[in-house]
Amino acid sequence: MATAPSRDDKFSFGLWTVGYDGTDPFGGPTRTPLDVVHVVEKLDELGAYGLTFHDDDLFAFGSTDAARQKQIDRLKGALDATGLIVPMVTTNLFSAPVFKDGGFTANDRDVRRFALRKVFRQLDLGAELGAKTFVMWGGREGAEYDSAKDIRQALERYREAVNLLGDYVTDKGYDIRFAIEPKPNEPRGDILLPTLGHAIAFIDSLERPELVGLNPEVGHEQMAGLNFAAGIAQALFHGKLFHIDLNGQRGIKYDQDLVFGHGDLHNAFALVDLLENGGPGGVPAYDGPRHFDYKPSRTEDEKGVWESAAANMRTYLLLKERAAAFRADPEVQEALEAAKVFELSTPTLNEGETYDEFLADRSAYEDFDAAAYLGGKGGGFVRLQQLATEHLLGAR
Ligand code: GCO
Ligand code: MN
Ligand code: MN
Repeated sequence: MATAPSRDDKFSFGLWTVGYDGTDPFGGPTRTPLDVVHVVEKLDELGAYGLTFHDDDLFAFGSTDAARQKQIDRLKGALDATGLIVPMVTTNLFSAPVFKDGGFTANDRDVRRFALRKVFRQLDLGAELGAKTFVMWGGREGAEYDSAKDIRQALERYREAVNLLGDYVTDKGYDIRFAIEPKPNEPRGDILLPTLGHAIAFIDSLERPELVGLNPEVGHEQMAGLNFAAGIAQALFHGKLFHIDLNGQRGIKYDQDLVFGHGDLHNAFALVDLLENGGPGGVPAYDGPRHFDYKPSRTEDEKGVWESAAANMRTYLLLKERAAAFRADPEVQEALEAAKVFELSTPTLNEGETYDEFLADRSAYEDFDAAAYLGGKGGGFVRLQQLATEHLLGAR
């Protein structure tokens, strides 16, 4: 059985996650609001190490400076009292009516200038609180109608915004990196930078690409029918896994934001195995926060909120334990070997081999028995997947 969560596990939660009041497009709140001090105390009690938030989660949009400061001070008091930290902050550029056509990429230039100022303000607060990551989820950066949005110009404006933010943190000396969070749709019909692959290509075109990475969310890639663990592997390949949003999603439908593991459990297992054992020599491949971005279902009361918060962490730790057992099983090692999983690390050409030498190698082509692959040389991949399944089920 998995041990209880501790600070070393680096579990963090958005204030908007446990704070979700149950509002959806078809109905209003089913829970009363939770106060930030109470949230910090409960998360501490449950074993989390961090709280993250959008500006508007902590102080309502349009708050006076005094009301804003009061909430910041209350949060700081709770952090001091518990030792919880704020590893990440983000800006709400999607709820207020002014952002109905987006923030950085709104057609209306005045809205874009306002959005940027709102982000600068939250960046200053993030730096003050010691946040190391600034997430950018552009939920309203998109469109429903093709002719109403010039996508190339929208991307120009997105790039202009992120370049400016990069200048700002650099000039201010803030120890903050940006993490773009892709999502294919919802609330817009189509969102810019819909998958992590799109975002990686965009980041490559920035003035300071080293300052910008990804905050991929399980459900968002799965809404696009993509394999999340495989996407994370590619993010790691590019050195762009700056942060991660863990949750659950059951197939291609609206963004469910379920508890981590309450969706595609096999893929969650593969993900935890990758994060925890995927580094060189089996060490963790990622050492940042394990951030849960989920919504306690609107059917639940406050007791259910904290049960679901605990469930995220417990499921992560159980999967971590199962993945360790999988890796330690001699039969799994043998099956990995048989499936030639390790052979993929060997470069296809010999060291220093030229293409002339390669062309002269008769064993590579002329004498190679390609026919043996019909009916022979099975991969053994299904056996491996069954071993993973049995470890996942606790049967080994
Ligand atoms: C979603 C998103 C958001 C963002 C968050 C950070 O579920 O569509 O995950 O929750 O992560 O708003 O800006
Ligand atoms: Mn989501
Ligand atoms: Mn998210």
